[in-house]
Amino acid sequence: MTARVDGPDKVTGRARYAFDHPADGAAYVWAVPSVIARGTIRSVDASQALTLPGVLAVITPDNAPRLPGTGDPELALFQTRAVAYRGQFVAAVVADTPETAREAAGRVVIDYEQAAHDVTLTASHPGLYKPDFVNPRYETDSAAGDFDAAFAAAAVRVDATYRTPAEHNHPMEPHATVAAWHGGTLTCCLPGGRPPGPPENLVLYDATQGPSRAAGQIAAVFGLEPGQVRVIAEHVGGGFGAKGMPRANVILAAMAARVTGRPVKFAVSRPQMFAVTGHRAPSIQRMRLGAGPDGRLTALCHDVIDQTSTLKEFTEQSAVATRHMYAAPHRRTTHRVVRLDVPTPSWMRAPGECPGMFALESAMDELAAACGIDPVELRLRNEPPVHPETGQPFSSRHLAACLREGAARFGWAGRDPAPGVRRPGNGHGRWLTGTGVAASTYPARAMPSRARVTVSQAGRYQVSIAAADIGTGARTALLTVAAEALGVPAAAIDLRIGDSALPPAMIAGGSMGTASWTWAVIKACGALRDQVRARDGAVPPGGLTADADTAADIGALPAHARYAFGAQFAEVRVDADTGEVRVPRLLGVFAAGRIVSPAQARSQLIGGMTMGLSMALHEESAMDPQFGDYPNHDLAGYHIAAHADVQDIDAVWIEEEEPELGPAGAKGIGEVGIVGTAAAIAGAVYHATGIRVRDLPIRLDKLLGGTTVM
Ligand code: MOS
Repeated sequence: MTARVDGPDKVTGRARYAFDHPADGAAYVWAVPSVIARGTIRSVDASQALTLPGVLAVITPDNAPRLPGTGDPELALFQTRAVAYRGQFVAAVVADTPETAREAAGRVVIDYEQAAHDVTLTASHPGLYKPDFVNPRYETDSAAGDFDAAFAAAAVRVDATYRTPAEHNHPMEPHATVAAWHGGTLTCCLPGGRPPGPPENLVLYDATQGPSRAAGQIAAVFGLEPGQVRVIAEHVGGGFGAKGMPRANVILAAMAARVTGRPVKFAVSRPQMFAVTGHRAPSIQRMRLGAGPDGRLTALCHDVIDQTSTLKEFTEQSAVATRHMYAAPHRRTTHRVVRLDVPTPSWMRAPGECPGMFALESAMDELAAACGIDPVELRLRNEPPVHPETGQPFSSRHLAACLREGAARFGWAGRDPAPGVRRPGNGHGRWLTGTGVAASTYPARAMPSRARVTVSQAGRYQVSIAAADIGTGARTALLTVAAEALGVPAAAIDLRIGDSALPPAMIAGGSMGTASWTWAVIKACGALRDQVRARDGAVPPGGLTADADTAADIGALPAHARYAFGAQFAEVRVDADTGEVRVPRLLGVFAAGRIVSPAQARSQLIGGMTMGLSMALHEESAMDPQFGDYPNHDLAGYHIAAHADVQDIDAVWIEEEEPELGPAGAKGIGEVGIVGTAAAIAGAVYHATGIRVRDLPIRLDKLLGGTTVM
């Protein structure tokens, strides 16, 4: 199957996203953001807002319902008068129309006691500390051998510091919720109708990557049992991690619905997404590589400095990929974090691997130059036979094959390593050209999920799992594997996903959706076929049902190292007068197990690479230290790659058997595409200009005035 099964619904506008769901008598929310970065709310004067016709309620820390489950301080909305960051929701207006709510929100007067804030990450910040673990539960540090001695003794050394800025996930669909209490109101619109059992206390249409997990977390905040909250995410317009866990906006929608007794709709505005829905924290990363003259690494160290908010610790695992990429007997990785008065960072496409591999792969490019060894060859020489820190075997590892295949397809052979020498027009043209390469990697994992498959006497199948299709093509992939496993055409199957009332499943995150969900679906399909076979093909009038749960299978996985890999090749042109960077060519070659749904997979990989290009050249949330906020908080000021930035871009994959990770053998491709792209482009910019840009994004000003060439 190559066509996206939800394609027709999407291009005709039939597909409904969270906010599109009708709700009779709906009210609308507008949130009031804090205008200070740190301090306390002295008082809130809602009187001017309440006089506006159509205003139903102004919710403040004074009158907000008390939330029993405040384990996650980001979700403890209006439970305190303390302000942890600028833009934090500190009050909200509920009104008959969104326009009235917004107007009234501007009339809420808040008196703050402002405290001095600190929003600036530095490598020597006195508040830096060693967290107990890094996202999601990796060891904070690792070490083997004697790095310091080996580095000091190395024939060739690279010691460089790389920086990545704060970046924000910006799915096309903002975070949005429709919330209603005490069932009734929304049941007309529930796809598939109401499941048996008592009505839920709270029903939400929510833009989430994971209905099961969201329902559980929202229930905990309101002191309900998990089954008392139902989260429906029929279609989701992107997430990139920002919708991986509930944020304050969904709590606000539910709270507003409870306060007013009406269904409530709430969509976070684009500027407010810069504060309340998460982002990739900026990083400062020191890389030290020591090698022999032949480029073989003897010592390798990756030290990461990162920030989180005062509310909640989230530490990006940026040095974790360094632990498995290259062989070196003496090695160390560390993560340190500081709590600043900034919004709470969270998941953004390949948290950890993405910024971390910019540093590691850039340093490898610098080492290649220092040794006079081709950067593809340098990587091949440092391939580890087993995981270099744990000694575990790789379930499958084909980085070398990706590098070789990519080099052949890209035309890498014969590349002149000299930087800053290629100008068209007999050496007088304006455009300097260069090429670069970097490796990609991402963990290949699965998480326990359940699925249910039924068949009716008439021969119609129903496959149910609380998966979410956030634009990835999950529906298509699941239908493909279900049809295969049942041995029936896809047209005989009704697939139900995107609803926490369905069998609980892993979120669409960590590149684990496909492996986790297909595992449960294939297992349930197999069990159903066994039942049918046992009855010699006779299906009783009530039909047959099979359930599957993969928890035990996943728990029994051998302790092996499982990763997807890739190699990315970039060609750039840099305008010698203006510093403008263009990327005429990008090629990614990936090894990610079985590719379940090729058309969707190609889109995912190209999407990841495009986001990597965007990271390399454009994306940067600039912090204003005076106000403690991101002044470029809209899509005019926060630049992302557009069509004109992306020229000849291609993603291909090599055939790879993944023997361990579930019956589909899929490693996941949602994130590996963004990993390494920025380093490949930065390497190409160096090759074009002779300028090594170590702090992203590669802006014009960083290329002007710093070279003998330009
Ligand atoms: Mo992805 S950042 O794990 O949703």
